[in-house]
Amino acid sequence: MPRKRSERREKLERAAMYPLDWLEERSGLVGGIRYFLFRKVPGDTSWWHTLGSATLTAFLVQLVTGVILAMYYKPDPANAHASVVHITDDLTLGWLVRGMHRWGASVFIILMFMHMGRVFLFGAYKYPRELNWIVGVLLLATGLFEGLTGYLLPFDQTAYWATVVAVNINGTAPFVGPFLASVLRGGAEIGPDTLSRFYSLHMLLIPGALMGLIGLHLYLIIRLGVTSPPWSSEAAGQEREAEAPAGRSGLVQPGPRAAGARRRPEE
Ligand code: HEM
Repeated sequence: MPRKRSERREKLERAAMYPLDWLEERSGLVGGIRYFLFRKVPGDTSWWHTLGSATLTAFLVQLVTGVILAMYYKPDPANAHASVVHITDDLTLGWLVRGMHRWGASVFIILMFMHMGRVFLFGAYKYPRELNWIVGVLLLATGLFEGLTGYLLPFDQTAYWATVVAVNINGTAPFVGPFLASVLRGGAEIGPDTLSRFYSLHMLLIPGALMGLIGLHLYLIIRLGVTSPPWSSEAAGQEREAEAPAGRSGLVQPGPRAAGARRRPEE
């Protein structure tokens, strides 16, 4: 009797695993995700190492709340401010979504700086992570540009004059300044074209660039691993005992796709 039950369970298990095996055999994605989730990190990682993931979480909150805001925001000077007031005062939980996006922008920037500070103080920018530091610098510049373009969108007095100041500061850059200011304004003065330009940059180009850069950043982190704190007993450069290969297939360690995959139910 007990044998029959275990056979049924085995059958059920195989049926449940079939979609995963199907996907793994054709893409190696399951192996890649398993490697990502269960990869080894230094034993003395601490709360300081959570600042990067906290920054990522803040970015994801901005993405979700931004998509909701874009459903109701109207990017023309005559309606922009009224649409923001409508979101805040009339829509169900509109005040919350807008508040999360507005304050979340500051949280994102502050976390980015804190994360960068951690990386700097731990010396985690040194070989072999210089490229990831450079990607981080690009992320910082792009993130700040995202904040600048978003600030104009409510199109009230604060937004307008803050943008005038920011564009004028860019205009003072040597050689390229006047050209840069003109590109940002979309003409000689701040007006309707500036607003739609900033809107397009804020919700299409810059988030796309941020997503690409974050993808590259995470790939490099997975490839190189994270750094131990400077006070770690696991000294950098110390010889490590060779580990037995994990015997997995997938994106990160290419190998025969079906290696380790379970047999199909009909076999
Ligand atoms: C959108 C912004 C960013 C996100 C989402 C992000 C995300 C992360 C995550 C999740 C980690 C691994 C965990 C950790 O060490 O905290 C990490 C590591 C790292 N980040 Fe960032 N980061 C961002 C911006 C930056 C900036 C601005 C810099 C520097 C200019 C930077 C440089 C690095 C470096 C060098 C590492 C490797 C650290 C190590 O190996 O210990 N990142 N990042």
